[in-house]
Amino acid sequence: MTAALRIAHLVDVPETAPTLARWFVEEWEPWYGPDGAGDPEADLAACASRNALPICLVALAKDGNTLGTAALKTESVGSETGAGPWLAALLVGPQHRGLGIGTALVDAIEAEARRLGFPAIYCSADASAGILKRRGWQAIGTTESLRGTIAIFCRRL
Ligand SMILES: CC(C)(COP(=O)(O)OP(=O)(O)OC[C@H]1O[C@@H](n2cnc3c(N)ncnc32)[C@H](O)[C@@H]1OP(=O)(O)O)[C@@H](O)C(=O)NCCC(=O)NCCS
Repeated sequence: MTAALRIAHLVDVPETAPTLARWFVEEWEPWYGPDGAGDPEADLAACASRNALPICLVALAKDGNTLGTAALKTESVGSETGAGPWLAALLVGPQHRGLGIGTALVDAIEAEARRLGFPAIYCSADASAGILKRRGWQAIGTTESLRGTIAIFCRRL
């Protein structure tokens, strides 16, 4: 399955933004829903570059179907610690989970951070903790999120 996907910068596939925004609202309703402070369209629109943060990647099937997304940002849950940059907004479409797409997106974000010269990358994670640990990320602390206390992970690049 993962051999058949391609990963693009959101700036090169802007037609995927409405699907991603809808998934953001469904998955992170307390933040992106009608009563939350987040604005999914604005957060996606802010990812307007391939070479400056925030950067958003999109996983697509060969037929162009949107599969998932991940971002590299200076600000995230946990950035109050002063660390960064952050792997954030990692999301795979509900019907596409468990197929390695999340792992491929983490790999691609790590490669982007390396390409841009960052010595390390961070992520505040709950559901993706297994993916990060398998890739050698280390738990270095905790932070508070709308989903409760979650671990902060770091990977040296
Ligand atoms: C977490 C997430 C990105 C993983 O994407 P994925 O494409 O299913 O990931 P992979 O197939 O590469 O790896 C699957 C791993 O994710 C775990 N996982 C977490 N939630 C899952 C779900 N709802 N469905 C399938 N796998 C899930 C699996 O247990 C598996 O870990 P394991 O091998 O230790 O059992 C995806 O489940 C998702 O988008 N969840 C909702 C948003 C979210 O929680 N984002 C991360 C915030 S830290």
